[in-house]
Amino acid sequence: MGTVILGTGSSLPKRIMTNKDLEGIVDTDDAWIYSRTGIKNRRIGGAGEQTHQLAAAASREALQMAGLSAEELDIIVVGTISSHMLMPSCACFVQKELGAVNAFAYDINAACSGFIYGMDMADKYIRSEHRKKILVIGAETLSSRLNWDDRNTCILFGDGAGAAVLGHSDDNGRGVIGSNHRSDGSLWKLLHMHAPPSYNPDLEVPDNSGSYIVMEGREVFKYAVKAMEDSVRGLLQQENISMDSIKLFIPHQANMRILTNLLDRLGFPEEKVFFNVSEYGNTSAASVPIALDEANRQGLFTEGDIILLCAFGGGFTWGASLIKW
Ligand SMILES: CC(C)(COP(=O)(O)OP(=O)(O)OC[C@H]1O[C@@H](n2cnc3c(N)ncnc32)[C@H](O)[C@@H]1OP(=O)(O)O)[C@@H](O)C(=O)NCCC(=O)NCCS
Repeated sequence: MGTVILGTGSSLPKRIMTNKDLEGIVDTDDAWIYSRTGIKNRRIGGAGEQTHQLAAAASREALQMAGLSAEELDIIVVGTISSHMLMPSCACFVQKELGAVNAFAYDINAACSGFIYGMDMADKYIRSEHRKKILVIGAETLSSRLNWDDRNTCILFGDGAGAAVLGHSDDNGRGVIGSNHRSDGSLWKLLHMHAPPSYNPDLEVPDNSGSYIVMEGREVFKYAVKAMEDSVRGLLQQENISMDSIKLFIPHQANMRILTNLLDRLGFPEEKVFFNVSEYGNTSAASVPIALDEANRQGLFTEGDIILLCAFGGGFTWGASLIKW
């Protein structure tokens, strides 16, 4: 018995914001952005494209591929840091949008690692309760959580959602092989986003005048590369799987320089890696499931192939997962 992905889906806002468009917003240029990040375009949400709406659209695709109705879902988990409300959760709004009346729903706040953390939780759940069908989503409208005067951050991120429906397979060889996830809250300052204003002055909450992403880019870069390398190596060792046996590596699409550094350090061939960062930028929790869905729909892997996922984000949170498709 293994936990398999029964269907995937993704949804992206219609509006494309190019590097040229950003030249009119902050002091930057296309050449700087592309050479430092590999990003050309990103999607920016508009009317009808809030986080939960993108999440629901991605989920409908995933359910359709899985051949399941929303009523058959038992749990909905959304990795997100940019829902339009703090409460209810984004997952509850998705449940409402889908009419998934039999599911309970909650969010995971793990920044860019939200989807792979959610998948891990779903895997463990399904292993103990075989009949469960779990919808795991990564969805963000980070455009609503960016300081559009800060050229260090606003050029990097974009909006979108990806989803996967997980269930069990009787085929012993297939499914989630394992995961290796970590966090380090002591490094929170390097990449963070404040909450909305506090109404209790006694709490001494740090500056929360603006709820937007703040980042020490160079430091984040170093930790991201090292952390993802360690989690991938640790996972392969833990599961006794060679790098050669991986059919496709789907890393978090943070930026191209992070990814090429990671691949160099791992000695992993670029031809076996899925990239879409040039088109969408960093969509945080949505990045891995959007890439997974695109790779799936492009037929880049088939039953029995081993897929490697990995992510890194604010917290810090990071990790890697292996799936035998
Ligand atoms: C953000 C990042 C692209 C910046 O690249 P960098 O080479 O480290 O650049 P620096 O921050 O050192 O800045 C170099 C110069 O470019 C300038 N600069 C920063 N952003 C700029 C922009 N958008 N356009 C033009 N110039 C910019 C800086 O002000 C600095 O100028 P100075 O030398 O006159 O002070 C890089 O640090 C990075 O990729 N970090 C990881 C970010 C990330 O992926 N975070 C999410 C992880 S999940």
